[in-house]
Amino acid sequence: MRTADIGVTGLATMGRNLARNFARHGHTVAVHNRTESRTKQLVEEHGHEGAFVPSSSIEEFVSSLRRPRKAIIMVKAGPATDAVIEELAACMEPGDMIIDGGNAHFLDTRRREAALRERGLHFVGTGISGGEEGALHGPSIMPGGAAEAYETLGPLLEDIAAKVDGTPCCVHVGPDGAGHFVKMVHNGIEYADMQLIAESYDLLRQALGLSPGELAEVFREWNRGELESYLIEITAEVLGHTDPATGRPFVDVVVDQAEQKGTGRWTVQSALELGVPVTGIAEAVFARSLSGHPGQRAAARSLAGPAAAAAAGAELVEDVRRALYASKIVAYAQGFDQITAAGEEYGWNVDRGAMATIWRGGCIIRARFLDRIRTAYEADPALPTLLADPTFAAALADAQESWRRVVATAATIGVPTPGFSSALAYYDALRRDRLPAALIQGLRDFFGAHTYQRVDREGVFHTDWSGDRRERPA
Ligand code: 2AM
Repeated sequence: MRTADIGVTGLATMGRNLARNFARHGHTVAVHNRTESRTKQLVEEHGHEGAFVPSSSIEEFVSSLRRPRKAIIMVKAGPATDAVIEELAACMEPGDMIIDGGNAHFLDTRRREAALRERGLHFVGTGISGGEEGALHGPSIMPGGAAEAYETLGPLLEDIAAKVDGTPCCVHVGPDGAGHFVKMVHNGIEYADMQLIAESYDLLRQALGLSPGELAEVFREWNRGELESYLIEITAEVLGHTDPATGRPFVDVVVDQAEQKGTGRWTVQSALELGVPVTGIAEAVFARSLSGHPGQRAAARSLAGPAAAAAAGAELVEDVRRALYASKIVAYAQGFDQITAAGEEYGWNVDRGAMATIWRGGCIIRARFLDRIRTAYEADPALPTLLADPTFAAALADAQESWRRVVATAATIGVPTPGFSSALAYYDALRRDRLPAALIQGLRDFFGAHTYQRVDREGVFHTDWSGDRRERPA
């Protein structure tokens, strides 16, 4: 009976493709789904691709697994995950592993891991990126949970992961919720990346009057240089696509309200808790929110705008390319800062260079650029910010004049570029010798006696603002 190397329960598109990926790599895969027709359909349509062991009940599914059992759950995140965990745990034995491959919130994963550990079971919250195609042909995989679980589970996951230069896009991220946390930040960075691409498109279209087709060419060209990435590549595809029904550019027939499933919002919520400024991700989440308020947008449509509506000069294309690259460096730097802070908060000790390594392939943010991040952390594993890495510092120095012109041009002609603008503001703020935070401390002390520290002496002080204005140690 116990023949399967690994099992997948939840056979909607992602689960089914993941199961097929294991089978195609020569592993015997137990498969199960609440509604049995999906299980039957998988075996009927793809049974020839490898060894599948179908089960109609959870008990049968669990007993078809070789020990220590490894069961991957691919159901909708939330109560369904808890329900399936409970069913599996009830028939498992100590040392067995439950792997959640859904998009769970990392705090749920921490809770589930702690509860199952009490029962002698391993719970491995695993981020899986790459969508349906990735699940089938090689995703980027971010497993958390105990290092001990990874010892036997890891080789199976690495086998089905995407490979870049022969290196699998899968590594043990850290204990309990670390894998789902890193996947969440990955998605947040994806939001920022897409926002910056959208701003580049919008500004060039408005400022230079380029058509979507012409802009597709621009992005295709950019994809041959340092911006080379999956998202730039598919931007050229989407911009170059013509709507078959109307003959108009596809991008002009799509309703301009961007939706979100929530991982971007989670990233920002967590960043607020951790006190990490992930302005690039936050601006991207808020830009989507803004797009989704048609009532306000209609009410504001007649508000005054600038006289200038266009900016001449083909050099703007190169300026925007550089601004995009510089802003992207900032967005990634911030995301990696968040991983660092969470590592300290939750005791994870995440290897940031390894995260850049496993994002090079399989996932949505895969890019040539991630090799540079990997190199930066290899050169200095304790790097305080990616911006300080000599290669990135030089790239920013190269780009910054262009970046300033882009933000100035956008403001002058009234094109919103919150991603570019906030990234530049972050860059300039980090560079500053003195920040106006000193004035804020003064104000806080004035109205709330919140005290302050001095640049020239140790200690904490308060000035008696409403009395004699003498300073006293607090
Ligand atoms: P279904 O085919 O029986 O609906 C995505 O929705 C996947 O999660 C599907 O495989 C679905 O099974 C499964 N799923 C959703 N809620 C579930 C639950 N409470 N228990 C088990 N599987 C569930």
